[in-house]
Amino acid sequence: MDVTCIGLAVMDIIACPVSKEDFEDDTNYLDTLQYQSGGDALNAALNMAALGMDVSLIGRAGNDPAGRSLLETARQGRVKTSGFILDKEYATSTSIVMVDKKGGRRFAYYGKCNDQLSVADIDVSQFKTGGIVHVGSAMALGSLDGRGLAELFKKAKDRGCTTSLDVTWDRERRWLPKIEAALNYTDLFLPSLYEARFITKKETPGEIAEFFSGYGISNLVIKMGNRGCYLTDFKEAEILPPAPGSVVVDTTGAGDAFVSGFLFGTKNNLTLRGCAILGGMVASEAIGAFGATTGVRGKFFGRPGETKKILQKAIEMQ
Ligand SMILES: Nc1ncnc2c1ncn2[C@@H]1O[C@H](COP(=O)(O)OP(=O)(O)OP(=O)(O)O)[C@@H](O)[C@H]1O
Ligand SMILES: [Mg+2]
Repeated sequence: MDVTCIGLAVMDIIACPVSKEDFEDDTNYLDTLQYQSGGDALNAALNMAALGMDVSLIGRAGNDPAGRSLLETARQGRVKTSGFILDKEYATSTSIVMVDKKGGRRFAYYGKCNDQLSVADIDVSQFKTGGIVHVGSAMALGSLDGRGLAELFKKAKDRGCTTSLDVTWDRERRWLPKIEAALNYTDLFLPSLYEARFITKKETPGEIAEFFSGYGISNLVIKMGNRGCYLTDFKEAEILPPAPGSVVVDTTGAGDAFVSGFLFGTKNNLTLRGCAILGGMVASEAIGAFGATTGVRGKFFGRPGETKKILQKAIEMQ
């Protein structure tokens, strides 16, 4: 196994148009409705499998049509799902995305199923030396955040794996305590600048890096949207712009795609800079199409020639 992705699996239901006024009527007719798979663990797993990596997904969904559909999507995407649990008690975590006529979005999220994911669900015997264990949605993992995450990463390190961590918005606004213990066992940390500011209460990437320097993290990569990313091994630091020629259609899943490309670089022994370049290239494919994984899967799934091409390009540029 090259990589195990652990975290959120979500069914996104995108409904358009929905405006505030529509709630006053009995029935509102929609022009478009889409079901899309989402959640960082599933997104990253699908992206990395499309890039040709050997990927396993650990998470939870309900034993309902949405959950079975997420499972089927993962399997069709060549993701291994033996560690993915269909929960009998809770409905699949679902995000209802209500889009108004101007493209504005409101979300209604049900996350109780994902909140059940705990260390007890994770069979660490499948973590093999040299593999990567990636958790992409710390802060939103009700039963895993905090001590559970630290325990999981310690076990992964003990078994010779590289640990990789990304975070998401903390609706409880607790931030640092949810990851602090785990940071001591984190090799690669890839927050966005926005999230890193909440975690550290610092402003600039340099100050944020200084804050994290005492935790034993090997590499810190701060994702900065259209400004690219900041990367440091705590000896040297650099800011890399986004991949040239990026066209923005929909930035949903940009962060997951960046991480996917980065870990693909890690697996292929690229330098820190090379991994970040590859991350930017894969993110660029993601933002060029609607949907969190549509762009990356469309470009790379079943097309090893395309994968070889960007890998070669990143090796030349690193
Ligand atoms: N508007 C944009 N223009 C160009 N590149 C972008 C843009 N948004 C994102 N990217 C690319 O995607 C990468 C990751 O995006 P971002 O920094 O937004 O991560 P994130 O905050 O984790 O995203 P997410 O909202 O998906 O969690 C960036 O480093 C950049 O390469
Ligand atoms: Mg993110």
